[in-house]
Amino acid sequence: MDHLVRTLEERRPRRVVDVGCGSGLQLAAMLEAAPGAEGVGVEVDPEAAALAQRTLAERGLADRAEIVAADVRADRVGPLAQPFDLALLANVIYYVPMRDRVALLRDVAALLAPGGALFLVTTVAAPQIFSRHFDLLLRAQEGEMELSDADTLLTQLADAGLHPEPPRPLAPGAPVVTVLATRPD
Ligand SMILES: C[S@@+](CC[C@H](N)C(=O)[O-])C[C@H]1O[C@@H](n2cnc3c(N)ncnc32)[C@H](O)[C@@H]1O
Repeated sequence: MDHLVRTLEERRPRRVVDVGCGSGLQLAAMLEAAPGAEGVGVEVDPEAAALAQRTLAERGLADRAEIVAADVRADRVGPLAQPFDLALLANVIYYVPMRDRVALLRDVAALLAPGGALFLVTTVAAPQIFSRHFDLLLRAQEGEMELSDADTLLTQLADAGLHPEPPRPLAPGAPVVTVLATRPD
C-alpha cells in the first residue's frame, strides 16, 4: 500500500500499533518499511493472534514486535500502555455497529501520542458493485456490521477528536480508501 509506506517514510514512527492485525502481514510490512520502529499487533481472535506471532517470527521480526491477544477496547495494559506514533486500523471498523464506531475510534486515538496519526483503511459505502455486495454480505452477518459512506467516516473520526485528511481511494474510483487522521498536539 503506497500511501502507508509513504506515511511511514515521512513520519518515521518509533512505535507502531496494528489494531485488528489479523495474520500480521501488514504489521510485518510496516516494520520492514520502518526499520527503526518497534510494533505491537492487537487482535481479539486468539487464533489470528497466534498466526500473527508466527508471521513475525517467519519474517525475522519477532524481536521488534509483540502481539497482544485482546479487544482494543479493553484496558490499555502491557505494551499498549506506552503511546504510539502511528496506529493502523485496516479493514476493522465495520466489525463494530455504527453507533459504537466513535467510541472505537476514541479508544484507538487514546493509543496515540499527541501529534501521532491513525492510518485507517476501509471499504466505504459507494455505488460500485463491489461496495454494494460487500455491504450486503456484512449486513447478513451477526453484530450489525455494515459499511459507512466516506462523509460519515470523516465525521466519526472528527467526533473521536482526530483531524482527518480527505480520503484517498486505493485506486482511481475504488471504494476502498485510506484516511490519515492526526491526534492534535
Ligand atoms: C478483516 S480482518 C483485517 C485484518 C488486517 N487488519 C488486514 O487488513 O488484513 C479484521 C480483524 O480485526 C479483528 N478485530 C475486530 N474487532 C477487533 C477489536 N475490537 N479488537 C481487536 N481486534 C479486532 C478481527 O478479529 C479480525 O482479525
